Amino acid sequence: MHVATTVAEMRTLRRAMSGDVGFVPTMGYLHEGHLSLVRAARDANPNVVASIFVNPTQFGPGEDFDRYPRDEDRDLSLLRDERVDVVFMPSVEEMYPDGGSTFVVVEGITDVLEGAHRPTHFRGVTTVVAKLFNIVQPTRAYFGQKDAQQLAVIRKMMRDLLRDIEIVALPTVREPDGLAMSSRNAYLSPEERQAALVLSKALGRAKELFDDGVRNADPIRSAMNDLLGAEPLARVDYVSVADTETLQELETIAGNALVSLAVRIGKTRLIDNVKLGA
Ligand code: PAJ
Repeated sequence: MHVATTVAEMRTLRRAMSGDVGFVPTMGYLHEGHLSLVRAARDANPNVVASIFVNPTQFGPGEDFDRYPRDEDRDLSLLRDERVDVVFMPSVEEMYPDGGSTFVVVEGITDVLEGAHRPTHFRGVTTVVAKLFNIVQPTRAYFGQKDAQQLAVIRKMMRDLLRDIEIVALPTVREPDGLAMSSRNAYLSPEERQAALVLSKALGRAKELFDDGVRNADPIRSAMNDLLGAEPLARVDYVSVADTETLQELETIAGNALVSLAVRIGKTRLIDNVKLGA
């Protein structure tokens, strides 16, 4: 496994590859969710590149950029075990020479949900993903449904920019008790870890109601809010029942819907989602 820390090294390694290239961008502190993407990439491509870069531009002021968990040695060993060919691990200076004054902005679907609560977040995500794609030039790139809006925003960016990199989405990997795996789970105290189960429970409640035939979105949102309100350590940022493509809030669910939520458990902000319907 090669580890490239500069853009020039990564480009040289890329030029030496023949055939398809699968790419898994991450911010590190890897867990089974990340590794499921790596395995899918490994299965479908003769060459696999993963990146580890805690991207400062997608963190807002007062967010957790400085304390975001990092463990490069462990990450590299996990990626080696998955037979990744190249890990791209640049510094902030490599990715943003001169700070960077050029951004990629996807309008519209970034105004709601995560975008409404973290106004500069998606600009940072799309900018860094566009830059990583320019450097790695993958055939396909792998993303988790865990970050459903990020996935929708990246798909929109690819359509709008007429890029032909295939975006592959993989299901959310969960702990046995239902908590969606996230690098940020490392912040939770044992008590908060228990309280964090309320996210997947609220999504489970939404699914139950839908399976019972409920198609009005309001009672689904209310039931979720009631459940979340009963957890003293939880503070709700949003609860949403939205169109899976436009991410606009729905009154009634005709076909399918994306149910998503963002909840603060103590100082830790967690997100999760589930798709209802086909
Ligand atoms: P990060 O949070 O490290 O996630 C990297 C990839 O792993 C994303 O595609 C994310 O959706 C996926 N992922 C995270 N938790 C998952 C889980 N429990 N199950 C399945 N997939 C999961 O998302 C980012 O980094 C960054 O925004 C990035 C795209 C790398 C740009 O900086």
